[in-house]
Amino acid sequence: MGVFETRITKIFGIKYPIMQGGMGAGYVSTAELVAAVGNAGGLGFMSAIQWEHNIKGLEDNIKKAKDLTDKPYGINVTLFEEMPKEFFYKVVDLIAKYQVPAVETSARKPDPWMKLLKQAGAKVIHKVARVRDGVTAERLGADALCIIGSEEGGHPGAERNPTIVVGPLLVDLVKIPVSIGGGFCDGRGLVAALALGGEAITMGTRFVASKECTVHENYKQAIVNMQYNETDYILMSIGDPVRCIRGPMSQAVLKLEFKEDKTELIKLLSKLKEQNDTGNMASNTGKLEEGMVPAGVVGGRIHEIKTCKQIVDDIMTEADVILEKLSKRKYWKA
Ligand SMILES: Cc1cc2nc3c(=O)[nH]c(=O)nc-3n(C[C@H](O)[C@H](O)[C@H](O)COP(=O)(O)O)c2cc1C
Repeated sequence: MGVFETRITKIFGIKYPIMQGGMGAGYVSTAELVAAVGNAGGLGFMSAIQWEHNIKGLEDNIKKAKDLTDKPYGINVTLFEEMPKEFFYKVVDLIAKYQVPAVETSARKPDPWMKLLKQAGAKVIHKVARVRDGVTAERLGADALCIIGSEEGGHPGAERNPTIVVGPLLVDLVKIPVSIGGGFCDGRGLVAALALGGEAITMGTRFVASKECTVHENYKQAIVNMQYNETDYILMSIGDPVRCIRGPMSQAVLKLEFKEDKTELIKLLSKLKEQNDTGNMASNTGKLEEGMVPAGVVGGRIHEIKTCKQIVDDIMTEADVILEKLSKRKYWKA
């Protein structure tokens, strides 16, 4: 078994230990991206919540992914508490109907969903930010886990811990394999994750800045242009923080969220919700100043929009070179 063949590549039937986590801030991880990641040898998850108000959109995307690739593909089911359970039942039905091979759950204890998804025939990886939530998901029957540090774009969890600490902590506590996410974009990251005991890396931000991602070009360019210290960690005050590129909207939220009077904050959040409900998120309109655009700290290390195949190939080539240099035990410089 080669060093890049892990229990995760085996369980999900993929060539490389590289996963593209579900991304649901507008239409971000759609069939096009997921199929391109699959064709490149990784595993991509389209985010079901993008189609909360249009379940047919999810079904169409499943069909499209099946047309675009004969490789495994997946669906992310972000189990937001505020979303109606009926929606998640419909998602499970589609997963069963199309025999979707892989599912990434996140955001909440995956109970009773884990059982239903397994009955539907999918292999399930559950994503957590807190170590103890990973242990719970193993007990509930997950095939694999993903743990992310607060570096990640999206919802990095309220505990605010770094990837390099939570990754090995979870690896040591569970028997099932763990993918590590938050801050990865290259071969150095992949080798580091393997050294931490991870059996794959999960990336989001790197894949937003890919040719096949269906977000607006302004969003991809903003990732290419940003510095590592230009994200905001907002909505900590309501216990569900989001890491996004610093801009007028994130700064406005930050300013308002610690005020005692929440009227203005609620107004702003309703505006963002309306963008979401009407399919007009900044990720797709390109009006970045009017919305929230999630991205991780790693955006500061992404300098080029590439195809998914280039992204994956570059990671694998770089990881190979690093491992060879390390095995010779010589000092090396990347
Ligand atoms: C634009 C964007 C939207 C995201 N939306 C979700 C989501 O809806 N559900 C989820 O579980 N994770 C979401 N994530 C997290 C990713 O799946 C992945 O775990 C994360 O991006 C990995 O960290 P990185 O951004 O440092 O690569 C999102 C990330 C980004 C960048």
